[in-house]
Amino acid sequence: MPGKSHSAYRCTECGASQPKWAGRCDACGEWNTLVEEVVARTAKGRGGAGARGHGGPAPVRLGDIAADAAPRWKTGLAEFDYVLGGGIVPGSVVLVGGEPGIGKSTLLLQVAARLEAAGVPTLYASGEESPEQVRLRAERLEEDTDGVPVLAETVLERIIEQAGVIGARVVVVDSIQTAYTDALEGAPGNVGQVRECAARLMRFAKEAGPAVLLVGHVTKGGGIAGPKTLEHIVDTVLYFEGENTLDHRILRATKNRFGGVDEIGVFAMTAAGLVPVANPSEAFLAARHAGISGSAVTALMEGTRPLLVEIQALASKAGFGTPQRVSAGLDHRRLSVLLAVLERRARLPLAELDVFVNVVGGMKLTEPSSDLAVAAALISSVRDRALPPEALFLGEIGLGGEIRAVSAADRRLAEAARLGFRRAFVGSRTSLRGGAAPGLELVRLEHLEELAHRLAA
Ligand code: TYD
Ligand code: MG
Repeated sequence: MPGKSHSAYRCTECGASQPKWAGRCDACGEWNTLVEEVVARTAKGRGGAGARGHGGPAPVRLGDIAADAAPRWKTGLAEFDYVLGGGIVPGSVVLVGGEPGIGKSTLLLQVAARLEAAGVPTLYASGEESPEQVRLRAERLEEDTDGVPVLAETVLERIIEQAGVIGARVVVVDSIQTAYTDALEGAPGNVGQVRECAARLMRFAKEAGPAVLLVGHVTKGGGIAGPKTLEHIVDTVLYFEGENTLDHRILRATKNRFGGVDEIGVFAMTAAGLVPVANPSEAFLAARHAGISGSAVTALMEGTRPLLVEIQALASKAGFGTPQRVSAGLDHRRLSVLLAVLERRARLPLAELDVFVNVVGGMKLTEPSSDLAVAAALISSVRDRALPPEALFLGEIGLGGEIRAVSAADRRLAEAARLGFRRAFVGSRTSLRGGAAPGLELVRLEHLEELAHRLAA
């Protein structure tokens, strides 16, 4: 071992390093941001011959590198492979984050079972559950899990050692919060431990070549293990989300060194584990009752795939005081803007109404392309008049009430046509490269007022 390890303390806010722990960072003045970390080598050792000695890799011309240098292991769980960009890349570290109980352990056990069955040696290291508990979960699954080696271990060095002993090519660590390295004094789960364990697994993956799948619990703030530093270390970050009351779960790539970000995969949680949903739009619209006022459908782009979702609005007479504005899946401020624009530009009387907006299925509206659908749902609710069935709404609304075109309109419209939609209300400048989708009548709108008129006719 070159040099001897010792500890230092790094600020998770500004990155400054200091030799002693303090409640407050000297450099930026933030409180409670210093975490312990291992300094592996002395400055001299780092500058001179490192662990690799003088014979480190030589530069290679880009043209001389084989393009398909990274083969991937496909699990056969279609949506999982898709979100990763076509399967697991050897030597990569993937973090799977999500709230407790969402199904992370189930997903990764299924992944391990599929890989093992396909001849890729795996190791499922669980620091959260005993082998018996893992076995109980396995019994519910339809997968053939018998061949998966399970290790109940929290000491990271031993997990890595065992992975080497059995020659595992894919190592699952469930979870990073229970993993522990002797190099640091802090308890498992503290930021320093989590970061150091992730960094060690990263080194293990890069040097020995197996892929590592890490489970990370999401904290109340929504981040994995507090600061975002863990996300910077790993190659790929997947979030597993969904509402506990609903059966479907969404796997979303928020970082991916080997594929696209914002791609999603949809699964259904069944009594026999997670089943990929082949037709997500259909699943999201399954519970919809056409003919009810306040319901409108729009098409979101999730990565490169279009997804149809239902937006529900309810406007009802407010009691005393300031009317309520409550939204789920739509940014609060965006709703306020849309309400103000509807009131001023389309003369929709909203000032004395409580307004509730909900995106069905736990999806979030992150792009303004869904503005028109929110407006249509609100108009429909205020008038208590259902929107035309089989109509799609696609457009961004400006402060003047003008309706703007959205990106990737052709892909969104094609998805709507595929699901039997007949009419699409869109911004007048919407450009369609591949021509209109078959069977879909386009209603081009300049202004919100036109929408209000059209829907009254
Ligand atoms: P789990 O994978 O333990 O979640 P996490 O690791 O993210 O904490 O799954 C938790 C839930 O999934 C649990 O409430 C039971 C449910 N479940 C099913 O509905 N079907 C199944 O086949 C399995 C294994 C779990
Ligand atoms: Mg778990």
